[in-house]
Amino acid sequence: MDRMLTINIFRYNPQDPASKPHMQSYSIDETESMTLFIALNRIREEQDPSLQFDFCCRAGICGQCAMVINGRPNLACKTKTKDLPDQITLLPLPFFKLIGDLAVDTGTWFREMNTHIESWVHTHKTFDPNAEEERMDNATAEQIYELDRCVECGCCVAACGTARMREDFLGAVALNRIARFILDPRDKREEKDYFDLIGNDQGIFGCMGLLGCEDVCPKNLPLQDQLGFLRRKMGLFALKDLRSGRKHTCTCQGS
Ligand code: SF4
Ligand code: SF4
Ligand code: FES
Repeated sequence: MDRMLTINIFRYNPQDPASKPHMQSYSIDETESMTLFIALNRIREEQDPSLQFDFCCRAGICGQCAMVINGRPNLACKTKTKDLPDQITLLPLPFFKLIGDLAVDTGTWFREMNTHIESWVHTHKTFDPNAEEERMDNATAEQIYELDRCVECGCCVAACGTARMREDFLGAVALNRIARFILDPRDKREEKDYFDLIGNDQGIFGCMGLLGCEDVCPKNLPLQDQLGFLRRKMGLFALKDLRSGRKHTCTCQGS
């Protein structure tokens, strides 16, 4: 390990009226198994304590360290410097509100998204703390678990062309979450309920299907499969519903 890395970092503090957006370069010697998370912490400790970026777990679990790394959204703690050239450019995720430098507020967006799609199991059962756990078929549980691995990092939203054009687009992460509840036998919502949530341009019919989301997802979620599954399911529901004569209310906003 004898490389010197140059890390070019976007700097801007929206809280400081004197601050102007600019790039700042830092040099750092590369060490064995260095991740960008380690490099950024060393820069902050050894060179510039004012540098802002987020992290919590350093293990690809909290989703807090997402940023644009040489043009692609990814997690800083999962990115090894040995896999990058010696010139590295770091930008904050677009789309989300900037807190400062590389730190963005994904939490507010995710809370609003989860509230909007009612991201919880809808059941008519009353909770009984003494009841025995209900078993779920293993194959179904595994399918749900696969989709539940999302760490809400925001990379898929940052890479999404539709999200850049319309702020109210729910994004692949919300659509993946809906697919997870459709699979869940405990959730008693019906097709019509899901259609009312995502059967519009804000949801599945706004997606242009270019799959930037799946390309950048650091957890390798099968987003493409879920988008295809939902597009077919909601499309078929709309057809059936039109034949049955139910009126649809257009929720598009000027598109
Ligand atoms: S496939 Fe759809 S959700 Fe994924 S990045 Fe493209 S427009 Fe966004
Ligand atoms: S689907 Fe993937 S990219 Fe999108 S928020 Fe979840 S983990 Fe991140
Ligand atoms: S620090 Fe938690 S995902 Fe990177």
